[in-house]
Amino acid sequence: MFRKQNIVQLAIKNNILNDEVTAIGVTDFERLRQTVSELHCAFPQPFIHTFAVKANALVDVLKELKSLGMGAEVASPGELLIAQKAGFENSETIFDSPAKTLSDLTQCIEQGISINIDNLQELERVDHLKAKNLNSTSIIGFRINPQSGSGSISSTSTATATSKFGYALADGDNRNQLIEIYKQRPWLTSLHTHSGSQGCELELMAFGIKELLSLAEDINREVGYQQIQQLDIGGGLPVNFESEEVTPSFQQYADVLKQTVPALFDGKYRVKTEFGRAITAKNGFILTRVEYTKSMGGRHIAITHAGAQILTRTAFTPKSWPLRVSCFTPQGEVRNAENTEIVQTDVAGPCCFAGDLVCKDKPLPKLEANDYVLIHDTGGYYFSNHFDYNSLPRVSVYAVKGNDNHIDISCIRKQDTLTEVMARM
Ligand SMILES: Cc1ncc(COP(=O)(O)O)c(C=O)c1O
Repeated sequence: MFRKQNIVQLAIKNNILNDEVTAIGVTDFERLRQTVSELHCAFPQPFIHTFAVKANALVDVLKELKSLGMGAEVASPGELLIAQKAGFENSETIFDSPAKTLSDLTQCIEQGISINIDNLQELERVDHLKAKNLNSTSIIGFRINPQSGSGSISSTSTATATSKFGYALADGDNRNQLIEIYKQRPWLTSLHTHSGSQGCELELMAFGIKELLSLAEDINREVGYQQIQQLDIGGGLPVNFESEEVTPSFQQYADVLKQTVPALFDGKYRVKTEFGRAITAKNGFILTRVEYTKSMGGRHIAITHAGAQILTRTAFTPKSWPLRVSCFTPQGEVRNAENTEIVQTDVAGPCCFAGDLVCKDKPLPKLEANDYVLIHDTGGYYFSNHFDYNSLPRVSVYAVKGNDNHIDISCIRKQDTLTEVMARM
């Protein structure tokens, strides 16, 4: 907290927040380096690490992560362009998405970007592309859904029986069919799962990875040689949003994996990871100014400039994504019980719907206009992923006019192409 307070005071001194810029996102590069070093210590060779770009798609952050030896895991063409702008080589990049278009796949296979195939229809496309690009250097695997169960947040759980992601391993005869698929395609040399997410127990994640390894062993045994050389175990390490403590740590996760899937560490397979939230969430925060305060029905309400536009998950599903806040005076002194009365408070955002809240009915030091609110642990999936940013993927808006005999359609807001957006960055 000491370091964060110093950063707040520096931001105030430098007038970084003002009437034009009413909220800022902060990434602490020093702490980011420390986190990546902890990752490397807990998971040394044969592990190789990519960063899930969706968690923090900022070119400077990605450049830093690249310089620390990480690759990039991208899930949309926009993320791919951003990763390329940050300098990631194609050979360091993996494209995961359940909705890859034919041109996404063509680009990956022609340029040697690795992919994890999500489903059988995608496999058909890849079959054709591989036949045309025999020398492609893309490392290609299948994403399996071990159907190992949901964590406590169903909207982000990826390994439920009906999750939209990957190939359902436990359905019908799917497991045997996947072994056949691998047998017929020696170029399938990787196998992928992403079974964790916020709200998942480490043991549940480890169970999914145990299934992955067991399937890889079965495939290799069936084909008679080590066709599968790489296991991609995804990301999904949960983050503690309740205090400053980093738990579970990468080391705790490694310890659980060592117990459940010891063979992961013996060097037989190259093991790829794709952590996002655990790399950046605790190394970033949002700082916003209190514009007004009021009292409503006995509740103190502080209106700030950070709401659903940058705190999307928390505003729409507050029970699943609660966030901690700290309060500061206009001079950057921490407000606490020693210097300020504690009152039940809603910290609100600026958007025009009642649910646009950072936190609700919390006992906080009484905020005043021109105070600052620091929103902790928002370095991943928050300020780098606001609405505008998410609109990068190819959405234009059309107007339809005319009666049924003559309908006309015309564009009323053209989505800039990715290249145009990138040129402005
Ligand atoms: C395939 C894949 N890899 C990596 C990640 C990153 O997950 P996290 O940020 O929870 O580590 C995700 C998140 O949805 C994912 O779907």
